[in-house]
Amino acid sequence: MSADNLVIVIGSGTMGRGIAQVALSHGFRVHLVDPSTSQREFAHKAISQGIGRALEKGQVPREGTLGWPERLTMGPDWHDRDPAWVIEAIPESLDLKGPLFTQLDQEFGESVWLASNTSSIALTAIQGMARRFPHRVGGLHFFNPVPRMALVEVIAGMATAPDFVTAAHALVKQWGKEPVTVPDRPGFLVNRVARPYYLESLRMVEEGVTDFEACDQVFEGAGFPMGPFRLMDLVGIDVNFSVSQSVFEQTFYDPRYRPHALQQNKIWLGHLGRKSKRGFYAYE
Ligand code: NAI
Repeated sequence: MSADNLVIVIGSGTMGRGIAQVALSHGFRVHLVDPSTSQREFAHKAISQGIGRALEKGQVPREGTLGWPERLTMGPDWHDRDPAWVIEAIPESLDLKGPLFTQLDQEFGESVWLASNTSSIALTAIQGMARRFPHRVGGLHFFNPVPRMALVEVIAGMATAPDFVTAAHALVKQWGKEPVTVPDRPGFLVNRVARPYYLESLRMVEEGVTDFEACDQVFEGAGFPMGPFRLMDLVGIDVNFSVSQSVFEQTFYDPRYRPHALQQNKIWLGHLGRKSKRGFYAYE
């Protein structure tokens, strides 16, 4: 199997299936990996609906999507495949991503680029788990929803080769996205600024300064596409909390980035946002 345009995407959740959809919409072949059969099945349905909708709205070139079902494979593992890229989109924890990158580093030859879609974990920490060829490891941080959001943060860890950055820019441009190289610092660029947006809003609600609906109304009225609470529901309150914890730890506990108990309480109750039909808001 030729490596030319095969991308292995690991994790078929919100981000993995979005990345897969975009690659499939631009003529690439995708192998989507997830241990969960139900997640894979859901991803297949979501990709099919997503491509259909994007075609109806003229958001993707029809020729790019031709034959996409034959270009998509799925499974619990990636064995015997020869990709140009592997893009990881599993939960935001170095305890999970680290061992995965150790395995990827062992199993794939040096010419295969290994990217993480991490929102906040230092790429240098991930490279520390891929010590055979750490120079081919870097960050490709897509935004949610992937098919609609143009920005991709490209992150070079301390050991990343300049060729990774060049190849990453070329790849995401082929997918109609706008790559921007950002530093390997906690939260990179977007999440460093976005953390206080969420966390200060949570504090204001706890202090009774405002309620969450009014807070969203104000920001949306001021031109933000989504207020902080609607956005947390979209991202997933669990994902948002993991990113908050990760940025807090990596800033050596800078109080500006302290996570909020309300995030934890929502998770304990299973109110994760849109994906569980209940977060700050309720969904049909
Ligand atoms: P998610 O919880 O929707 O999906 C994660 C998927 O990974 C699940 O389907 C799960 O079954 C699978 N998985 C878990 N362990 C695995 C393993 N070892 N191998 C293969 N699959 C495995 O998570 P989501 O939201 O897609 O986030 C994934 C990554 O993308 C995280 O690093 C997150 O920080 C980042 N991200 C998330 C954004 C968001 O808005 N949700 C935005 C940008 C980045």
